[in-house]
Amino acid sequence: MIHIFEPGDHPDQPTLLLLHGTGGTERDLLGIGRMISADAALLSVRGNVLENGMPRFFRRLAEGVFDEADLVFRTRELNDFLDESAKTYGFDRNRVVAVGYSNGANIAASLLFHYPKALRGAVLFHPMVPRRGIPLPDLSGTPVFIGAGKNDPMCPPEETEELNRLLSDAGARVDVAWSNHGHQLTPGEVKNAVRWYHTHFA
Ligand code: MLT
Repeated sequence: MIHIFEPGDHPDQPTLLLLHGTGGTERDLLGIGRMISADAALLSVRGNVLENGMPRFFRRLAEGVFDEADLVFRTRELNDFLDESAKTYGFDRNRVVAVGYSNGANIAASLLFHYPKALRGAVLFHPMVPRRGIPLPDLSGTPVFIGAGKNDPMCPPEETEELNRLLSDAGARVDVAWSNHGHQLTPGEVKNAVRWYHTHFA
């Protein structure tokens, strides 16, 4: 997968996996990654799917309607890429924390839904429920931050609550930070995510 790896200064810090939104690239979240942790390694990945020229992490049939088979395939592909990258760059595969926005948050949530040890934690900005009707792995003690907008047309508050419930029932420690905004990523929620990260990982 096309990506950027920036080594960290502290081997004890998790590696941050940065996952952009639809139409973004591996450069989009580098700044936010550095705001979250000044000395963590950053692995920023570009989605392998193109929708009218816009990179994404998995196909969709319509806005908010996911191609489930492709989601499962791409989630596995990303998980395999993390395994390989840990060997290539020498980071601890068991200490990867995802930071994803929108489509990137959805594939991060999908990693949590499908693989018990894929992520040590996750910052999900405006995620949706990636899949329904499957048992989730044991996510005991996995910290998850959800940044959500009360007026997000793509992800209504009920869907955020549903995702919170599904992850919490699997044992994850979920914190939801609400804003009055829509789907956009706001400085306020990034600030909340930085604070949350330092409580759990720094
Ligand atoms: C998705 O397809 O993952 C969601 O609709 C969010 C987005 O548009 O990226």
